[in-house]
Amino acid sequence: MRTLEQQFTIHHAFPVYFSRNVLRAEDPLLAALLLRGGRKSHKVLCFVDSGVLASYPTLGRQIERYAEVHRNFMELCGPVLPVAGGEKCKSEPHVVESILKQIQEYHLCRHSFVLAIGGGAVLDAVGYGAAVAHRGLRLIRMPTTVLGQNDAGVGVKNGVNAFGRKNFVGTFAPPFAVINDFDFLDTLPPQDLRAGMAEAVKVALILDRQFFNYLFNQRFDLAAFRRQPMEEMIVRCAALHMNHIGTGGDPFETGSARPLDFGHWSAHKLEEITCGLVSHGEAVAIGIALDSLYSYHLQMIGESELHRIFMLLADLGLPLYHPALAVLDIGCALGEFREHLGGEPAITLLTGIGRKKEVDRIDTTLMARCVEELRQHVGAKNFSPSADRETARTVPVYGELN
Ligand SMILES: NC(=O)c1ccc[n+]([C@@H]2O[C@H](COP(=O)([O-])OP(=O)(O)OC[C@H]3O[C@@H](n4cnc5c(N)ncnc54)[C@H](O)[C@@H]3O)[C@@H](O)[C@H]2O)c1
Ligand SMILES: [Zn+2]
Repeated sequence: MRTLEQQFTIHHAFPVYFSRNVLRAEDPLLAALLLRGGRKSHKVLCFVDSGVLASYPTLGRQIERYAEVHRNFMELCGPVLPVAGGEKCKSEPHVVESILKQIQEYHLCRHSFVLAIGGGAVLDAVGYGAAVAHRGLRLIRMPTTVLGQNDAGVGVKNGVNAFGRKNFVGTFAPPFAVINDFDFLDTLPPQDLRAGMAEAVKVALILDRQFFNYLFNQRFDLAAFRRQPMEEMIVRCAALHMNHIGTGGDPFETGSARPLDFGHWSAHKLEEITCGLVSHGEAVAIGIALDSLYSYHLQMIGESELHRIFMLLADLGLPLYHPALAVLDIGCALGEFREHLGGEPAITLLTGIGRKKEVDRIDTTLMARCVEELRQHVGAKNFSPSADRETARTVPVYGELN
């Protein structure tokens, strides 16, 4: 037998900007970014979320004007192309096919740029197309939702749904750059402004107690969508996500622990069984409530901590329960989550605010009891979790995650 070993290291780096009104003709940011790709006029194909286009009907013209002014660096190779906004663009296979077709028809090469402007769903679908066409084009993301700016847009992956499974198809593909333009949030509907805050609560709970306290203290201003705390929340949330991906030692998620997916095992399933009726952010809020309650019942967090978590979610206007949770097959959902991640089963729980622990077993009977407690909580102003935590300790924590 003869064995050769291949080995190389790849360095990844990309900038994430926070700015305003970046597509006005005199703004230098996008042009300067293209210049980083080489001193020439770069082919750029621009895909825009249909929800964004509906709110900014002149955006296409504005981008054309931008390209005219910066023609030394930017060659817009076609009209601005709309992509149906929201989860359906990830669920309907023809959307990715059409993105690939446009990339082919406009003769983009690996050095060309795809500019994706939109919510997390459009960024995922366009990002996937850009990652697989010619095995990877340069992608500049311009997220236009809270969730896009504080989470989905600043990470290293993309994904679309297939066979009824959330994010079943996708790649790890760091973008060339990310430009978060706060002005886009002015037209975002309240439910989407709110939904993005769930990811901030999530990342604060697992990584940063001070950030949780900030969110808690600002919760009424955040609920009123005041600009200053909203922007602070977005930047800090994005920074925590980026820091974890960059320094956590597993940017492409080859290991088992996935703390950034706290609350997500049930959230993904809720999105699936409601066919996207419950948005990603809302589902994450419910998933956080459920896994926090479960952590409480395992005596990993105290009652006052649980109260603060529930109070923050509720005061932000986020849901803690949805009737679809009651029909969720917990064992099956955990099994599918494990299958998606690979490796040893690992679910993140809380051991305090800003502190987490990975567990490899879940007591599905206790989890079902938590679902029932959440159901009873709906409408009750002052939630008191069942004090009967003894049961949790005496019932054996059983079962593989299936
Ligand atoms: N790749 C990742 O790392 C990652 C991380 C987290 C979430 N996600 C994905 O992100 C998606 C959720 O993203 P989202 O919360 O941004 O929702 P979304 O993309 O579904 O957008 C919500 C709605 O807002 C509209 N919209 C977007 N920007 C607007 C604006 N500025 N003004 C008016 N309307 C606007 C869209 O058309 C859509 O109808 C999910 O599919 C989730 O799986 C991906
Ligand atoms: Zn998420």
